[in-house]
Amino acid sequence: MSHNQPSGLLKSDFSAWNSLQVDNYDFYLAQLCATNPVTVTQNIYSNDGQLLLAIGDLVTHNALLPLRSFTLAKSLPSCIQIQHLMNNADFLQHMVNIIRDTEFFQALEERKYPLESLLPVSEMLEQFPLVQQRLTVMSAQMNDLFQRTLSVGLWSIFIAQEMRLPIEETQMVFWAAICHDFGMMHIAPQILAKEEELTAEEWRSLQGHVDISRQILLDSAEFSKELVDAVYEHHERCDGTGYPHGKVESEISLHGQILALADSIVGIYYNRFKPYGRRWREVIPVLELNHAAYLYRSCEIVSTMIFRSEIPLDNVIDGSEIPEFAERMLQQNAHLQQCFAELSSVLTNLGYTHGDRKLHSLQNVVLHIATTFKGSLLFKEDLRESLRSIASQQEIGINKVVEDALLRQQEMNFHLHRLTHMLQMYVGSGDCKNSKIAEKLDAGLKKIGGFLLPPTS
Ligand SMILES: [Fe+2]
Repeated sequence: MSHNQPSGLLKSDFSAWNSLQVDNYDFYLAQLCATNPVTVTQNIYSNDGQLLLAIGDLVTHNALLPLRSFTLAKSLPSCIQIQHLMNNADFLQHMVNIIRDTEFFQALEERKYPLESLLPVSEMLEQFPLVQQRLTVMSAQMNDLFQRTLSVGLWSIFIAQEMRLPIEETQMVFWAAICHDFGMMHIAPQILAKEEELTAEEWRSLQGHVDISRQILLDSAEFSKELVDAVYEHHERCDGTGYPHGKVESEISLHGQILALADSIVGIYYNRFKPYGRRWREVIPVLELNHAAYLYRSCEIVSTMIFRSEIPLDNVIDGSEIPEFAERMLQQNAHLQQCFAELSSVLTNLGYTHGDRKLHSLQNVVLHIATTFKGSLLFKEDLRESLRSIASQQEIGINKVVEDALLRQQEMNFHLHRLTHMLQMYVGSGDCKNSKIAEKLDAGLKKIGGFLLPPTS
């Protein structure tokens, strides 16, 4: 999906959802009820005292119909019981399955990584009825989100352990990871499944999942403030480009930063590498080029852990195709440089005295990209020289140079698309209050469109 967010809902489910017009999570409960009975355990009243659902009623689609015209005195999820709730043993088994199905986690296990640390945390699930309910619904109705959530949980606990955090904090980061995207279960399924670029309004709605996750956890009162804060910060970035508040490194908690990195690498892997049979090892150059967005120490830990798992990088290009491939890389390199130069001049020419925090963070992104890529081989004459000589078949067999260039150019392209998209959103959503700046950005974006390569998969 273009917006890098998960969904397990089928498009055929949308018409049912549309006709009900109830909260998405209530809809998922009714979907679940078809295979795993969901029963009302407390009478559900409207705000003005009308009884809408009584104790013992099943939460079916039909039962939800009367709810759509009322505001409920108490939310549906707090007044129901699911017959077969995920228990501690199921939860552990799901995590073991993720480990067995993921080459990287498997390698860690074979190298005697302390996976036994999962046992104590998995035995805590039944202490948290809210989490039990949410995970039961998520695993059945949004399985892709569920798999990603468990992967984020595994990464979070491993990073926290490598950082030698006290056991209570390590467990807290793990539970924050398990709860971080509960809010996604309230976002319209059409937005989650949309293949095309999201509109500014849809982006805003999607980003709202962070607030919703926070509110769900606050309402349940099962968790500490530190945990809720970490969940609330999982889309913040150290360089100020995240949301909801565009916080910078010193403003984000350590736990929030660990969770942000774990969530990002899982997103990168699931969206950009896994569907194409690519491996965890390829996440490393992406991390290297994005280190400004994350806590440096945790980036190092992740890279070391992946290296330690000794997963080799596949040879992505066959010997005979190398010269032609190198030629293509050279052309792409020139396009990327032009595109970056345009973007850079559009943003720097706006000056830095406008006082708009959002625009400052976009300008910072360009500076970060510039610093990172100037430090890498990507735009150096050496690389182009090597590519030229490989393209002219003078040096057959040096495919490491081509592979590294490929990974970095793909990453650069991804950054350029991301930044262009952020600028489009900034102008399109009305966040840009200065009409002259908006006009300049608009004109710049049109020009950049001519240089942009197709999106990196
Ligand atoms: Fe999220």
